[in-house]
Amino acid sequence: MASAELNSIALKMVARKKGILAADESNGTMTKRLDSINVESTSESRRQWRQLLFLTPDISDYISGVIMYDETIRQSDDSGQSFIELLASKDVLSGIKVDNSTHDLAGVPGEFITEGLDGLRGRLAEYYGMGARFTKWRALITVGEGRPSDYAIRTNMHALARYSALCQEQGLVPIVEPEILMDGSHSIDDCRSATTRSLIRVFEELDAQNVDIKGIVLKPNMVISGSDASNRASATDVARQTIDCFLDTVPANVPGIAFLSGGQGDEESVVNLDEINKIANTEDLPWELTYSYGRGLQAAPLAAWLGKAENIPAAQAAFQKRGLDSSAAREGVYAS
Ligand code: 13P
Repeated sequence: MASAELNSIALKMVARKKGILAADESNGTMTKRLDSINVESTSESRRQWRQLLFLTPDISDYISGVIMYDETIRQSDDSGQSFIELLASKDVLSGIKVDNSTHDLAGVPGEFITEGLDGLRGRLAEYYGMGARFTKWRALITVGEGRPSDYAIRTNMHALARYSALCQEQGLVPIVEPEILMDGSHSIDDCRSATTRSLIRVFEELDAQNVDIKGIVLKPNMVISGSDASNRASATDVARQTIDCFLDTVPANVPGIAFLSGGQGDEESVVNLDEINKIANTEDLPWELTYSYGRGLQAAPLAAWLGKAENIPAAQAAFQKRGLDSSAAREGVYAS
């Protein structure tokens, strides 16, 4: 795949005013989300939920691409049009989560390794043939007593680079997601240290494995206090620390950074992104800075939907509101 084509897909994913919808919950995670609104999780209820999101009017005003799960990318809307075709008709790119989830890392309790490399080349070729143009792989790094270990960082970042090289070979832009988990009582400085170590390592691995940096999108956590920390850092601190951390670690030719929401509250995820882009508007930063939210975009509409057909317009309005707020934050004009 010509690197110019990968670069142009990556740039489209992080286009101004837009971000990426992470709708790639595995069936297990989606079941938890549907349980929370007392809706039975079936292939059909999951299809209806994703259809509701994808059919929201004017979705492409704030969504550049959607990350799907294997079940979802094979599904269609009520009219029989495949989700991939439906999204393409709205000028929204289709993406696919290709990792096989996180598993215990051998010998180190509390640390994880993401699996899914075996047979990946064949799966990628199939997804490309279906019309997908980008992919996602999430590495999960935890912070705590003695964590993250160098062992966890090295093995996870190596796997992220192996995945990325295979994706680019098959014409797909890899979303490179090294997530430092927010769970815990750690400080923002601990998060910064774990984020710095992980990003340095992942860019070393990407370089060693000949990945074209102009053809990826980085999906990191913000540098943020643990969710149970006693004194959680302010949005201004989160924004400053996040940007300083990236200036230390992320090459200037990465086209874009699309943050995960990672369990931040709805307002928190928007205000923090807004502060980050307020800095970006005054300093000459090399990358686009946008969102790739799952819960941050879906929690409010899911609560409005409750599995009822009559609630679809209200749920779509809630999704649109979260999308437009995130879009404003992506421009640094949410709270102006
Ligand atoms: P959250 O925004 O809910 O963290 O989900 C984004 C994602 O894709 C995590 O892998």
